[in-house]
Amino acid sequence: MSHRCCAPVVAGIALACLVTMAAAQNPTVIATSTVQATVAAPSQTRFLLPVPASVQWGEGRLRLDSTFTVAVRGHSDARLSGAVWRMLQRLEKRLGVSLTRSPEGAAPFALSTDFASATLVVEAQGPGQTVQTETEDESYTLDVTSARAVLRAPTVVGVIRGLETFLQLVEGDRSGFSVPAVTIQDRPRFPWRGILIDVSRHFEPVAVIERNLDAMAAVKLNVLHWHLSDDQGFRVESRRFPKLQEQASDGLFYTQAEIRAVVAYARDRGIRVVPEFDVPGHSTSWLVAYPEYASAPGPFALEREFGVFDPTFDPTNERVYRFLDRFVGEIAALFPDPYWHVGGDENSGVEWSANPRIQAFKRARGFATNEALQTYFNQRLLPILAKHGKRMVGWDEILEPGLPTSSVIQSWRGRATLDSAAHRGYTAILSSGWYLDHQRTAEYHYAVDPLPATSTLTPEEAARILGGEACMWAEHVGPETIDSRIWPRAAAIAERLWSPREVTDVADLYRRLAVVSARLEETGVQHASHTDRMLRRLAGSADIAPLAEFLRYAQPAYFGERSQLQRTTQLNPLTHLVDAARPDPFTRWRIGALVDSLLADPRHAAGRGELTAIFDAWGRLLPQLQAAADSSPLAGEAFPAADVLAALGAAGVDALTFLGDGAVPPDGWLARITPTLDRADRPLGLLRLPFGSALRRLIVAAGQPH
Ligand code: ACM
Repeated sequence: MSHRCCAPVVAGIALACLVTMAAAQNPTVIATSTVQATVAAPSQTRFLLPVPASVQWGEGRLRLDSTFTVAVRGHSDARLSGAVWRMLQRLEKRLGVSLTRSPEGAAPFALSTDFASATLVVEAQGPGQTVQTETEDESYTLDVTSARAVLRAPTVVGVIRGLETFLQLVEGDRSGFSVPAVTIQDRPRFPWRGILIDVSRHFEPVAVIERNLDAMAAVKLNVLHWHLSDDQGFRVESRRFPKLQEQASDGLFYTQAEIRAVVAYARDRGIRVVPEFDVPGHSTSWLVAYPEYASAPGPFALEREFGVFDPTFDPTNERVYRFLDRFVGEIAALFPDPYWHVGGDENSGVEWSANPRIQAFKRARGFATNEALQTYFNQRLLPILAKHGKRMVGWDEILEPGLPTSSVIQSWRGRATLDSAAHRGYTAILSSGWYLDHQRTAEYHYAVDPLPATSTLTPEEAARILGGEACMWAEHVGPETIDSRIWPRAAAIAERLWSPREVTDVADLYRRLAVVSARLEETGVQHASHTDRMLRRLAGSADIAPLAEFLRYAQPAYFGERSQLQRTTQLNPLTHLVDAARPDPFTRWRIGALVDSLLADPRHAAGRGELTAIFDAWGRLLPQLQAAADSSPLAGEAFPAADVLAALGAAGVDALTFLGDGAVPPDGWLARITPTLDRADRPLGLLRLPFGSALRRLIVAAGQPH
């Protein structure tokens, strides 16, 4: 199995409508009784994402204008007022009017004490946990009438979640802005809803992390899994072991002050930060700095390529454990979260097998395999972590006989390890099927469920499934592109982790995602705007129209394809057309929907005009792109896909004509086009055309007698 390429095939996608919610999946989170969902139809989810547990629409609307004020009653603290002020800042920009300022100027906005006239009353019962954990109560209720909105929550974290819901409810029409009357009772289905960000393969500055934390909070995600070390770089300042950042980071690391600031920033948004320092494999960077702890003689150099490499900690060396004890002792203080991720994945075992001393140790201890030796290593790590107040999280390779059940298993090699872990008494989180770097669709990720209706786990086992994490591995992303690989697809995963299991309507997801994606940029992420900015550099000009139009229809090749075709290293500039492209462009869903509605009634005009316009545009693109490439060699990267696009466009126009006229295509027409359809299913340069299957449906239907 090649590194990080083992995307499981996700089985069929349920198209059920909303929603009757069953009891909370994890009884540790919310102890209250079952909430009955009352959402009646998909369109009634408006632009709520994730869909709340229970929504009842009322009569009337609460108008929003410059008189909007917020009153806080009950518990109040800096985290709560910060969250309210951030909400007001975003609201002010949306409404385009200034809201009431604080007279003293000490705070950005005035919070009212006049509960009777405030537009929004916020009421928290308490602050929530001093250190947020997976047992934090994130529930809230939001009642909106035409007179006011009232947001109530047991904790400040619940208020933070509810404020995002309030912002998602804001709608405009010609008469102004308003929020529809509604009663929402909400709480998450799973308590662990995260995103892994790999900053080793490509470093991400603090500002990038922070803007992604804001976007995470907007869709109610609550864990940043920060992958801080790997073969390609060590990214944290250690004062005890400064060679780590001095020799193994290319100068790209977070100071301790920056780490503390990010952790505080995340906490303000109700997000935990779980650090990962990968051991014993994926550890070249550690061993560049401290080769004496390796299983083979050094020296080592930072890895520039991607894959699985051999440098590995020596599990037989007592000084390794003393080193790790001192390292964890120092760094644990930066991360208040009770969990510490040890990695544990993809230990090649090559250095262990090649080292006679390590093999003798193995034999003497009766360890039959390198996996058993790794379990020994983990067992030595566990008391070190416990001493520093941490519980172990590791990738599913650590799930070997002898591992104490206090460890949390992160399933990435296939969902079977998730169920197996829960069955064997471990708590577990899912990432298999949620690798954002694989460039799959939101629809694909949305179909993955940590606890599908078909699960055979007992209720007790099911309660051990804490949730999951989307993974943003960084072989192919840098600061300019990472947002576009995370958003908006991670919002689909956020919904899977927050909303009732029955929320599975893909069409409704894409309808909401289009709006939510645009609104996410309000939080600072640049997933949509990055394309034009990158294209301007690539084209050497502000005239990017053909390239931008082309990228509405193309997406990056899958992770494994790009890895093989481009053989990138850490040093390759990520400034190609593939980097400006975005996974799962909205046109994929739109074209699929248009084709389906047309095929449901081929003589009817539904979808025909729009599809014809799209197909015609594909034909016009090729000469325009050729002109663009005259002054930009990189623009020529569009040609393989643009060629196929032009041919598909012509075939699509023919297909529409045959279907519309009820005409039989000439002999051999389908056979002539089939090679083009086949090409459209493969990578074209570093790009893919994401709607090959829709075009095939259309063209095959037109080629049949009808
Ligand atoms: C992994 O992708 N190696 C966890």
